Amino acid sequence: MASINIPDEDRTITDTQEITDFLSPFGIWYEKWDVDSRVGRDASNEEILAAFAPEVERLKEKGGFVTADVINVTPETPSLDAMLAKFSKEHTHSEDEVRFTVKGRGIFHIHPKDGPVFGVLVESGDLINVPAGTQHWFNLCDDRTIRCIRLFEDPSGWAPNYVDQPIDEKYAAVCWGPDYLPPADDLDPVVKL
Ligand SMILES: [Fe+2]
Repeated sequence: MASINIPDEDRTITDTQEITDFLSPFGIWYEKWDVDSRVGRDASNEEILAAFAPEVERLKEKGGFVTADVINVTPETPSLDAMLAKFSKEHTHSEDEVRFTVKGRGIFHIHPKDGPVFGVLVESGDLINVPAGTQHWFNLCDDRTIRCIRLFEDPSGWAPNYVDQPIDEKYAAVCWGPDYLPPADDLDPVVKL
């Protein structure tokens, strides 16, 4: 499930309703669509799109999107580092970036016009959009894997427009969450289970 981290306030939000309420003023939608009860995470692209066709059609009507596809990124993806470098620099798009994560994990960092930078950790079952013109960047987590449904108004409109004074390097591209807690040996003996 998604979570939000606000590094400058040393604050993390994990409650679904609080996440939705936090993102809403930025024009960011958050929805949770369960994957494992609907389709296998490794099903074909066509099966994934068919399984979530009702939700995709609803979003197309809501946001004026015309096409949807599935992107698969793994450590074996050719030129993966070059692809990731394109999106880990602060940028905007001329249309909304809508992503439903089927498998894997990643972080969208959002740089609002006013207010602190925040990271949105997405994983299987999380839908978010990054509204057109919003300054943001994206990093994968350690497993360097993500599988997403993407929606487009015009696939050519999704090219990144890099900002003049990017601040992405000030924020660690480290995924937080239960998988990334230190090993038990590093914990204080009092709390070790
Ligand atoms: Fe982007």
